[in-house]
Amino acid sequence: MKIEKCVQGGAGFARLPNGSVCFVDGALPGEVVEIKVIEKKKDFVKAGIVKILEPNIKRRIPPCQYYGKCGGCNAQYAEFELQIELLRQIILDLFSRTAKISLPQNFEIHYGAEWGYRCRAKVFFQMRGSNTIIPVEKCMILSKKLNEKLKEISLTKRVRLFDNQSEFYLGKHIYADESVFFQNNLQLLPKLIDEVRRAAGKGKLLLDIFCGVGLFSAFLQSEFERVIAIEQNPLCQKFAEKNLGKNCAFYTTSAEEWLGKNAGILSDACVLIDPPRTGISNEACDILCKNKTGKLIYVSCNPATLARDTRKLLNCGYELTNIQGFAFYPQTFHLEIMAVFNPSCT
Ligand SMILES: C[S@@+](CC[C@H](N)C(=O)[O-])C[C@H]1O[C@@H](n2cnc3c(N)ncnc32)[C@H](O)[C@@H]1O
Repeated sequence: MKIEKCVQGGAGFARLPNGSVCFVDGALPGEVVEIKVIEKKKDFVKAGIVKILEPNIKRRIPPCQYYGKCGGCNAQYAEFELQIELLRQIILDLFSRTAKISLPQNFEIHYGAEWGYRCRAKVFFQMRGSNTIIPVEKCMILSKKLNEKLKEISLTKRVRLFDNQSEFYLGKHIYADESVFFQNNLQLLPKLIDEVRRAAGKGKLLLDIFCGVGLFSAFLQSEFERVIAIEQNPLCQKFAEKNLGKNCAFYTTSAEEWLGKNAGILSDACVLIDPPRTGISNEACDILCKNKTGKLIYVSCNPATLARDTRKLLNCGYELTNIQGFAFYPQTFHLEIMAVFNPSCT
């Protein structure tokens, strides 16, 4: 098979001689590979590589000794430069197919260190696809401090680790612990905060929906007269109360419920949404469509749901005015994206 491109999730895409689609795990664009079909579905087949006949010149031997045994880091076989290029191609392809728009070919993806970037992790020492315990002495993507903690934890337990550099972060105390959501690439996070801050500008009202412990609001509150922060996890409240200033109100409630009761103030607000991987629910999206916001900044950790929601927002009259990627998770096919929508003038 000749691999045409990589698709969302990282698999190589090729067409079988009969024209049907074949997804080849671990294959890179331009490669010629001998494959073994693993699963046949109605519209496509899934395959694994038996032999690489013509490798991509940016293929490398995965640097981590646990590669293949551990379930993470499934992009290690591509040099980092190629990983960024693959992310770009995957996003362009996804937005063209799902959101039905062409993003600029040079769609920007910001990146930082390739290794040692992760400051938060859920750890369990179980071999991929089996019950065998594998002791991991060092994980190449974890921060130095988390690698020290790794040596102290029990092999048989599932443990959440948090390298709490966030306690003093970009000149501020940001309170959080391992029980709540926190961004996990603290090296690249300032770039994302900077771009969100630039996109938001100044204004009367900022709505920070899906706010977690109030990270973005903590850095934007000085630019707005008033901030309303919405988060459904009650564990975030005690941290948000410390992170947010006097001009901020924090509500423990779902985005849907809050938007349903307060749709009337959306038109005056800069709305920042940072939902989980599932994206915005139909209910919340309908409210944002029927009640156009002043500006809508969408931070996403899942390009597939962002592309889906982008199409809905464009259909109801928003315009996409800015989109940038942030390679928060090197050695994987995941990234963060910031997309900015404005209500169209027509
Ligand atoms: C990707 S995190 C973003 C958190 C925060 N913006 C940050 O950067 O630290 C998504 C957050 O949304 C919260 N969440 C998930 N579903 C929600 C919903 N329906 N309504 C409100 N919050 C929700 C989660 O608890 C989580 O804290």
